[in-house]
Amino acid sequence: MYRNRTCGELTMSHVGQEVLLSGWVQRQRIMGGMTFIDLRDRYGITQLVFNMETDAALCEKANNLGREFVIQVSGKVAERINKNKNIPTGDIEIIVSSLTILNESEVPPFLIESDTDGSEELRLTYRYLDIRRPELRDRLVKRALIIRAVREYLDSKDFLEVETPNLIKSTPEGARDFLVPSRLVHGSFYALPQSPQILKQLLMVAGMDRYYQIVKCFRDEDFRGDRQPEFSQIDCEMSFVHQEDIFETFGGMVQHVFKKILNYELSEIPRLKYDDALRLYGSDKPDLRFACPIVELNATLPKSEFGVFNNAIAGGGLVAGLNAKGCATYTRKQFDELTEFVKASHRGLGGLVNIRFNEDGTVKSSVDKFYTEEQLREIGQAFGAEKGDLLLIAADKTSKVRKSLGDLRLELAKRNNWIKPGTWSVLWVVDFPLFEKDEESGEITFAHHPFCSPHPEDLQYFDTEPTRVRAQTYDMVMNGNEILSGSIRIHQRDIQEKVFKNLGLSEEEREKKFGFLLTAFKYGAPPHGGCAFGLDRLVMLMAGGETIRDVIAFPKTSGGRDLMMDAPTPVEKKQLDELGIALNNE
Ligand code: AMO
Repeated sequence: MYRNRTCGELTMSHVGQEVLLSGWVQRQRIMGGMTFIDLRDRYGITQLVFNMETDAALCEKANNLGREFVIQVSGKVAERINKNKNIPTGDIEIIVSSLTILNESEVPPFLIESDTDGSEELRLTYRYLDIRRPELRDRLVKRALIIRAVREYLDSKDFLEVETPNLIKSTPEGARDFLVPSRLVHGSFYALPQSPQILKQLLMVAGMDRYYQIVKCFRDEDFRGDRQPEFSQIDCEMSFVHQEDIFETFGGMVQHVFKKILNYELSEIPRLKYDDALRLYGSDKPDLRFACPIVELNATLPKSEFGVFNNAIAGGGLVAGLNAKGCATYTRKQFDELTEFVKASHRGLGGLVNIRFNEDGTVKSSVDKFYTEEQLREIGQAFGAEKGDLLLIAADKTSKVRKSLGDLRLELAKRNNWIKPGTWSVLWVVDFPLFEKDEESGEITFAHHPFCSPHPEDLQYFDTEPTRVRAQTYDMVMNGNEILSGSIRIHQRDIQEKVFKNLGLSEEEREKKFGFLLTAFKYGAPPHGGCAFGLDRLVMLMAGGETIRDVIAFPKTSGGRDLMMDAPTPVEKKQLDELGIALNNE
């Protein structure tokens, strides 16, 4: 036996007991004739004590231990004189009577403590050491508990966990596929699933009724803080449901998980229409932990010669702004920073107009030349502006103004600490469009994926104004992060064909790419719908972490590399020959 207790469980109630512990040497302090060692395992830290006077040989052995040695000790639990209130085992220590070294360790390349000196690159290279640190360990523990709570909930609602294959045919989810060459059929490739979308729909055709899977998905896209090339979904599908059933089931799931993991009562999850989300917050994933909505001014702007505003409106664009409450005292430098922020190339605004409602009751602006104070006050009314407020106004193409002000809203919240720690904003965003028009090419693409069911009352616009057709698609947004997407699916072959046709797929392409789905729809497909949670994002929000890398045991870097295993790497020519692949090295 290696142990009969863990390093996280001994308290005053165990004083006097003989125990056997195993773990890693976290820290060693030699003080006079005494040696103290912090012994660590997944469950916590327990202090070990060695005394030169009572057993010199044993104490000597303890003095020679190095950091991260794996040891086993037996000894008696005793009350500590200097208690440590910061850890659950801080009231006790172990008077050690025997010590066995189970394995030695080289000095680790960084400190295995909360406050580590290791860069992220170094920690990713030695991820197994990084995971020994309490932050990462606690997040992985929380991840497992969240998954356990999810299973508990879905199992109680008769969902069946069904596995689906990883070597499949390419399915369109909007990203690039990872391809796997076939050795048996040279020149042919499997694709790794971007999600099990079609497979779960086929499970509904197969009569499985309620499916879920905690599943890896693979997308070869540009990675960001909230994106990894392989990530996990809680993937779900239900038969004979409308949107309301989905909202109830998965809203309930999030409430269950919050209660279980955070002991937090999440109230009924509100809904916001996609159009309203864009209009009011400039984003389809608004963070509603603070207000600061976008105020549109096209209809209420007082008359003036100010070309920037007039031209935007005349050109079919938008004049709109934000009320940065309490920011009227911003310095020139602070204001310039905000202007640079909206001018950044991916936002592309020309600038920002400001109107300051000063504490002394005066109103000043960067457009004093064009508007009287009276007119500025009139504009202020649309924002409910009070003394101390700063209005920031932009004018350009509608989508540009909305996106920039949406980003600016978040930036203001960050700068002004508008978000109180421990608050939550969870909402459904509903009524997404079925199709989107690519701004550059003008081509019609699907907004979510091509299996989403249109709103029945919008079918009339299908051929004439396809971008007007709303889909029965929904997202769940948590603190400004999209953590779930889903939809009621098309289950009728003719409507599915129509959508493919609108997306510009020829009959031949339809047959080649989706023939198996269209065939399945001939054999009694039930009405169905579902969703998928981004598990990593959900865990990141609930367990803490700056990026989803912080809640994944072995993540990739932002450059898509696994630094620990050193992947991807070139392979032997022989392996390529077997696959019938020649590299184009030019
Ligand atoms: P979607 O593509 O929106 O929908 O993905 C569902 C959720 O998965 C998360 N997510 C990601 N997380 C980390 N890294 C990524 N690269 C990444 N991409 C997506 C997001 C997202 O909300 N089959 C559909 C679901 C359905 O319709 O049922 C799908 O995959 O949190």
